[in-house]
Amino acid sequence: RHIALQITTAMLCLLMAGVANSELSSQPKPKVLKLAHNLPLTHSVHLAFVYLADQLQDVSNGQLILRLYPSSQMGDAIDTLQMLQIGALDLSKGTSSDLEPFESAYSLFNLPFLFQDEVHFDAVLKGVVGQRIMNKTRDRGFFCIASYVAGYRSFYARKPVKTPDDLKGMKIRVQVSPISLKMIRLMGGAPTPMPFGEVYTALQQGVVDAAENNEASWVNTRHFEVTRFFSETRHLSQPDFLVISTRVWDQLNEQQRQWLQEAVARSESFQRKQWQELTSTSRNIATQSGAEIIPVDRRAFRDAVTPLYEQFQENKEHKELLELILAAKGNS
Ligand code: GCU
Repeated sequence: RHIALQITTAMLCLLMAGVANSELSSQPKPKVLKLAHNLPLTHSVHLAFVYLADQLQDVSNGQLILRLYPSSQMGDAIDTLQMLQIGALDLSKGTSSDLEPFESAYSLFNLPFLFQDEVHFDAVLKGVVGQRIMNKTRDRGFFCIASYVAGYRSFYARKPVKTPDDLKGMKIRVQVSPISLKMIRLMGGAPTPMPFGEVYTALQQGVVDAAENNEASWVNTRHFEVTRFFSETRHLSQPDFLVISTRVWDQLNEQQRQWLQEAVARSESFQRKQWQELTSTSRNIATQSGAEIIPVDRRAFRDAVTPLYEQFQENKEHKELLELILAAKGNS
């Protein structure tokens, strides 16, 4: 009798497993989206993407999954943006500099001394101008569905940079964007375009003398170990964008798009909330290691780049967008 009971129990278990299995297989398979980017694991935007993946899992009940490929493992920003266009990747990250070669309107966000403060930045990015520019490339294979903050970029080198004169004869790494090249030339330096992942070695080996970025990136890339002077020119405030392939977006159903939008919105506020603290922690790490953060009179740098604003008068749409951006200043 005992053996008979054991056999019946075993059969019951098998039967139940069978039912569970068939229930599982009747559920739709989760959809997986791949996001590749060029940032190190400690970068605030990568951390926002990790958060985004968690939130997406949560809101979609595991039906929409985000898989991350960080640290340039699929190439630099330009490579991954091109992969979106040919359907080889679902999502990526681009700064306005990375996006400028694909759509010239992004150059507006690469204008030095454009944003008055964080409120102005957000009013523009979340407002009409931001939305218009972020959607402009839909017919070219991708568009942007989120923007993240990146503070202010300043110069860092082995010596202080207090005036534009100090940049004379210095090779300065810039992102691969036409307007960044012009900016450095106007300020007096020699621009050297280079992918983000190559900058540490270039600084270390003296291929470039300086780079420019925010405090968090100066520290999380370890650039601060080889360039000990961070001179606060605070000349540029550029957004980082989450970019999606148009084809992938079009293939998502209404429900999946809502899940993605909800999770994306949560990741944007998560990253914005972390930013101030990340900036002050980074400053502390650097100064405690003996690196120096140097205040700079920014006026001479600002005066040097005014010709950049003039070029936006030549294109009717850019002129209109620039006026809208500047008008939003008053409201912040
Ligand atoms: C910042 C920005 C990155 C960008 C990098 C760069 O860290 O957040 O998205 O790639 O600057 O200078 O290339």
